[in-house]
Amino acid sequence: MCGIVGYLGPKPALPVVVEGLKRLEYRGYDSAGVAVVRDGRLGVHKSAGRIHVLEQSLDLNAEEGHLAIAHTRWATHGAPNDVNAHPHIDASGRIALVHNGIIENYQALRKYLTQQGITLVSETDTECLVQMIGLRYRGDIEQAVREVLLDIDGTYGIAVICKDEPDVLVAARKGSPLIVGVGKDEFILASDASAILAHTSHVIYLSDGEIVRITPQGVRTTTLNALPVTKELEEIEWTLEQIELGGHEHYMAKEIFEQPEALRNCMRGRVDGKHGTVHLGGLAEHWRELTRARRIVLTGCGTAWHAALVGEYLFEELARVPTETEYASEFRYRNPIIEDGTVVVAISQSGETLDTYAALREAKQRGALSLGVVNVVGSTIARETDAGVYLHVGPEIGVASTKAFSGQVTVMAMIAAALGRRKHMSQPSMELFLSALSEVPDKMQRILEQADLCREVAQRFHERDNWLYLGRGYNYPVALEGALKLKEISYIHAEGLPAAEVKHGPLALIEEGMPVVFIAPNGFQYDKIVSNIMEVKSRGGHVIAVATEGNREIARLAEQVIYVPDIIDPLQPLLTVVPLQLIAFHAAVLRGCNVDKPRNLAKSVTVE
Ligand code: F6R
Repeated sequence: MCGIVGYLGPKPALPVVVEGLKRLEYRGYDSAGVAVVRDGRLGVHKSAGRIHVLEQSLDLNAEEGHLAIAHTRWATHGAPNDVNAHPHIDASGRIALVHNGIIENYQALRKYLTQQGITLVSETDTECLVQMIGLRYRGDIEQAVREVLLDIDGTYGIAVICKDEPDVLVAARKGSPLIVGVGKDEFILASDASAILAHTSHVIYLSDGEIVRITPQGVRTTTLNALPVTKELEEIEWTLEQIELGGHEHYMAKEIFEQPEALRNCMRGRVDGKHGTVHLGGLAEHWRELTRARRIVLTGCGTAWHAALVGEYLFEELARVPTETEYASEFRYRNPIIEDGTVVVAISQSGETLDTYAALREAKQRGALSLGVVNVVGSTIARETDAGVYLHVGPEIGVASTKAFSGQVTVMAMIAAALGRRKHMSQPSMELFLSALSEVPDKMQRILEQADLCREVAQRFHERDNWLYLGRGYNYPVALEGALKLKEISYIHAEGLPAAEVKHGPLALIEEGMPVVFIAPNGFQYDKIVSNIMEVKSRGGHVIAVATEGNREIARLAEQVIYVPDIIDPLQPLLTVVPLQLIAFHAAVLRGCNVDKPRNLAKSVTVE
């Protein structure tokens, strides 16, 4: 979604912020713009479309200013055109502002501004903000921003500059992330660490309700009510190398193929196979509450919700705690019941998904212990939860989530096992489980070696408009995830279902040659899924099976089989999901789709 970059320092600011915008491209956007202060003038350039279109209208070397802000916009209020693109400027032409989030009382503000004789030129909610700041400006941009924000309802991450104050960059946040990179005599502000990494790994994470004033002398943080806040300088753990393509053509392929290593990192120092124990530092102070938990609610959106569904099975089987999975967007609005002993776990790669964050807040307000299973260190959800476990799978840049899914499942497997062991699980059972978990990365690697087979499946069916994905038990969420991967990047319609449900309606969809993917590894529901395969096959469906190595029977039933190594049922999703990611990836490439930036989608969904 929208991205913000700002710069104040000795370098020419424009190339720095444009480069920063490119690092944020993966998040999805439909227009871009920059504003730079130079020689007492404010230069603003914006355009609909990609950053390279904006770049063509800029002379990066000519604009020598040392203070600039930049933005990529993912349209919400108003079409993605040049006028609605950010930065927006106030009526006096002095102040420029970029904004992520949504101003909820913008209609009232528009009315007020019109009464004050201000003509609003765009359809955006954002323009109201800068016009209000312009009205309040009396020579101190920070003060004007502060006064206006006290009247704002909604969410924002903003960066503001004023041509009369060429050494001041002001930013503020409420519900939309902002990070200040602190380099040697220079400051890079961004909504995402990837725009900062090329300059420094030392950062200050802003919290909700804080305003930051950045000048050559340093960074000063205060609350909206002007109370000083002491901030820690923190270290970003990701490297520049990790956010680059590393020889791959697509981030999605890179991220699928790095899953074995990502899971090793996720388990490193946590799974102790020798002693059969799990160490999760983030939960160290909460095991007592967790072992007493009467109910666990897992919440997230999209792929994270699918991972949560796997988690539900894991927590119930390993820890024997009643567990439910809730769409964050539904949970937050439906007056959820949070009783004593309820633990709510927010699952999120980005840690910034608005619905998940709001669900978490709702749960906290009602007294639940809140935990986070998050990838991005320092993200909003990670900071707001009582405790949590990071994925440590490295940055995920491709819009379609892949390694984050396997990281989320792995983390929940570790938590569920650790909790189970504290409750009823015997030490030998724990050791068996952890030894199976430790084998996952190598087994995944073997599946990745069959990428060509997945490509063949995609080759044969990428022109079909409808696919079905069916699975049972632990592989039912995998069916949902396989279908989501296919539809989001290849634009093929696909549905995922529990395999037994197909005869309650969807069987009517089956026609000659329709691709139906069965996730059918060996396990306690294998015989049942074979019956489901027969039902589909006898109606003309083309069966593609993901099955366990050595299963010869399935080769007689299915037209195509992709084999995965044998593993205990609870860990099957970590293996069975991989061929589905590869099939979706190849189908999208064959259809000429933009794999890493699928149409209409954004990496981190920070609006409702
Ligand atoms: C699908 C996908 C989305 C995200 C969802 C939640 O491939 O990426 O469905 O999983 O938007 O995002 P996070 O995990 O960042 O909260």
